[in-house]
Amino acid sequence: MNLTTFAFPTRTLFGAGALKELPACLAGLGIRRPLIVTDAGLLNTGAFGALAATLGPAGQGKNWSLYSGVHPNPIENDVREAAVAFREHGCDGVIAIGGGSPLDAGKAARLLVKRPGFNLAAFYDEPDWSGLAPFIAIPTTAGTGSEVGRSSVITLEGTKRKAVIFHPELMAKLVILDPELTLGLPPKITAATGADALTHCIESYTCPAFHPMCDGIALEGVRLIVEALPRAYRTGQDLEARGKMLVAAAMGAVAFQKDLGVVHSLAHPLSTLCSMHHGLANALCLVAGMKFCAARKPGLYRRVGVACDLEVMKCTDAEADQRTIAFIADFLASLGLNAKLREHGVKNEQLEALVAQAFEDPCHKTNAVPVTSNDLRKLYEEVL
Ligand SMILES: [Fe+2]
Repeated sequence: MNLTTFAFPTRTLFGAGALKELPACLAGLGIRRPLIVTDAGLLNTGAFGALAATLGPAGQGKNWSLYSGVHPNPIENDVREAAVAFREHGCDGVIAIGGGSPLDAGKAARLLVKRPGFNLAAFYDEPDWSGLAPFIAIPTTAGTGSEVGRSSVITLEGTKRKAVIFHPELMAKLVILDPELTLGLPPKITAATGADALTHCIESYTCPAFHPMCDGIALEGVRLIVEALPRAYRTGQDLEARGKMLVAAAMGAVAFQKDLGVVHSLAHPLSTLCSMHHGLANALCLVAGMKFCAARKPGLYRRVGVACDLEVMKCTDAEADQRTIAFIADFLASLGLNAKLREHGVKNEQLEALVAQAFEDPCHKTNAVPVTSNDLRKLYEEVL
């Protein structure tokens, strides 16, 4: 029997108004002067205003500093600039607020705070990850779940490719999930980020690694998303639905410490080559990916169907899959996530480059069934 490590260690404070606890949490972690890491788009939102109000007025005498230059897909220079700001302002901890990008940049910046001039591309050779500045993650979208992740996805200067910088020491000391911070998310972003979380839950549950704890979390994540995402999409001010989506997104990311699958391999090149939103890319590929897997491993989605509250326990394997996949297709369509890739600007001429990058992507290597380069081409053609 292979040895497996199970880890669910992130301390998480959840609830409407949880942000108000931040000053006490900072004191508890010994942080006197945090660096806030975010992107320019967040500065004018209510979420950032609430954070600034909680920490005290900006300006003279303020006890926090700001770096707001993170790109939508964070680049190495964002991480470098955040680390410089940290040192210049004498900070002693990082608070990242926003979607996955600021959270990933803030997470990784602590490595360059500790080791100025460190070559991020060589992170896998780094022997000593101890002593990173404490990190607090405050997500304002319910999708990537980066707040509970041990990795940071950064586009490196040298290769222009995304590198997944991974180490358990990168994890947050505290996550604050405050649904009040997500009330202002527009419906399209709510739907796309929620579809990312749904894809995390479905792909992590169906990948073959032995991890029954993650499986349970993934299936409950599916149940929460099926219940709450349509509500959050239609009624942005539904605080309960927003809260359930925040937890479900974190659950999806906890579950995918198990692994992901072919849908994420299809989605990653759509972001790097076609600038498509990651959640949207997953949503547009999810149904095709599920059909592909179910045809080769009948019955794969029966328990996902149960989590969607479908009567599939007594069906044949093929029928259980078919009903579950049809439900997911209708569910995504009800959220406006049923377009073809070409409707979002993807061109036929990009197909081979997409296939090549998708095949290089590691996610499909842990898919429920093996995936060839030709399979990826057929899947793209199906959704193009
Ligand atoms: Fe994802």
